[in-house]
Amino acid sequence: MEHRITWRVVLAMMAGALGVPPAQAQLPDGAGRDETVRLCSQCHRPEVAVSLRQDRLGWAATLRKMTALGAKGTEQEFAAVLDYLATHFPADEVPRINVNTATAIELESGLTLRRSQAAAIIAYRAQHGAFKSVEELKQVPGLDTAKIQAKRDRLAF
Ligand code: HEC
Repeated sequence: MEHRITWRVVLAMMAGALGVPPAQAQLPDGAGRDETVRLCSQCHRPEVAVSLRQDRLGWAATLRKMTALGAKGTEQEFAAVLDYLATHFPADEVPRINVNTATAIELESGLTLRRSQAAAIIAYRAQHGAFKSVEELKQVPGLDTAKIQAKRDRLAF
């Protein structure tokens, strides 16, 4: 996470320093966009400002940090920026679990399965090849199919 953020920021800043014309700011339309561009492109490109994905608290902390660094704006403007960022750049979704590549521990913790059930999935996979659907996954002997059904939105194949 830290790495990814740092590199995106560094690259965006380098592009700025090299005089690369700002790719038309990739900021989605919405209430607060104008304020965000105005307040957040004084020191770096607005792309840097939206290089994070975080929840509202995280964005509030970023705004405090930018204010400490010298960002200027009215309270109203900052409130609009916070709404905009929290709406359009929320925290990443929890990644799905790919049942064809997940380790036993990932299956166990990600799907809250018993260890024996995670092991059964791995064994079945080794024997029959990749799962293609939830229905196929439910064929695994000893698996809690109700739980699998309940977690199907967390699964990837
Ligand atoms: C007064 C100058 C200034 C303004 C205005 C400014 N920033 Fe920054 N911003 C910086 C600096 C300097 C960095 C690099 C900070 C670092 O490396 O610790 C930065 C880095 C960032 C980063 C990268 C991650 C991080 O926390 O360092 C984000 C996200 C960010 N700014 C968001 C914003 C947003 C959102 C706004 C508009 C409200 C904004 N910035 C306005 C100076 C500014």
